[in-house]
Amino acid sequence: MLWRVGGVWGIVYNTAETSREATQGTMRTIVFGSKGQLGLDLCARFGRDGEVIAADLPEVDIAEFAAVEEFVRHTRPDLVINAAAYTDVEAAEDDSAAAFRVNETGAGNIARASARAGAPVVYYSTDFVFDGEKHRPYVPEDAPAPLCVYAESKLAGEKATRENNDRHCIIRTAWLYGPGGNNFVEKILRAAQTRPSLQVIEDEVGSPTYTLDLAEATAVLASAGATGTYHVVNSGSCSRYAFARAIVKLAGLDTPVEPCPAGAFPMKAKRPLYSVLSNEKYETRTGKTMRGWQEALADYIQRRRENQ
Ligand SMILES: NC(=O)c1ccc[n+]([C@@H]2O[C@H](COP(=O)([O-])OP(=O)(O)OC[C@H]3O[C@@H](n4cnc5c(N)ncnc54)[C@H](OP(=O)(O)O)[C@@H]3O)[C@@H](O)[C@H]2O)c1
Repeated sequence: MLWRVGGVWGIVYNTAETSREATQGTMRTIVFGSKGQLGLDLCARFGRDGEVIAADLPEVDIAEFAAVEEFVRHTRPDLVINAAAYTDVEAAEDDSAAAFRVNETGAGNIARASARAGAPVVYYSTDFVFDGEKHRPYVPEDAPAPLCVYAESKLAGEKATRENNDRHCIIRTAWLYGPGGNNFVEKILRAAQTRPSLQVIEDEVGSPTYTLDLAEATAVLASAGATGTYHVVNSGSCSRYAFARAIVKLAGLDTPVEPCPAGAFPMKAKRPLYSVLSNEKYETRTGKTMRGWQEALADYIQRRRENQ
């Protein structure tokens, strides 16, 4: 359902009722970046608990404080989730101003507007804030050392969020895939269907994460009233190569997948070779665990098949 909020239109997700009168007293959540891969799953998940007011480009540019402030003030949310971001890691190397405009200025705007409205804010950050030298799963207290512009802009967004809203929850995650995204899983599936064989990097290790599970974990943290910085990923870890092999196998394809070093695909943006995140703080705070990446991937591929 479309709903006019201040000067702009938003989309209201609510699986039970859609009229404002009917949702009085239920939780109202704004999701910025609602058309992104995580945003879509957040809208569906939070729509189960109440009313979601969805915002994305072109209706609301998060880098414009006046637009964000008006949207938040008129909505009177109980919770504001910032899933909007500049996520093109390679392009950010050539246009750092564009990356910082969204990831730092936009994050600060959302945090400030939500604080003024008396609502807590959720911001997503990335495993790329680390340099990969630790070689053991990173905990939220580890010192960040970003290697590329995108990671620097996301770290600046964390700081802007903390400084502008005391009631913040910063969730670092990694290697996201979900419906509608141009993510690693989709790229591997496309390549496996069109090429005779694939070469995939073996010396980059991380934590693949399904947006469906991250949306659920966000709801768990929000209902616990958690504030501070958390790491949330599907549990376990793998190389890009092992991830690609699992994707191809689960999709029932027999395209050969061969390992290669990261140096075989020169990139502008430097990435950490080891960026596994530890869920320990999330698990201690909530009493919940994240399922393993293989199980989550199998679920994603199964749902994808059912929706084709
Ligand atoms: N993808 C990953 O592997 C990964 C890993 C770690 C952390 N994260 C973080 O997780 C969060 C969600 O990522 P995602 O993969 O779901 O991202 P995504 O699919 O790229 O979605 C981001 C959304 O934000 C929108 N957006 C961009 N600039 C905006 C602006 N100025 N105002 C309003 N909306 C704007 C985008 O619109 P357009 O498409 O029109 O630009 C898009 O709909 C982000 O904070 C990201 O940094 C992602």
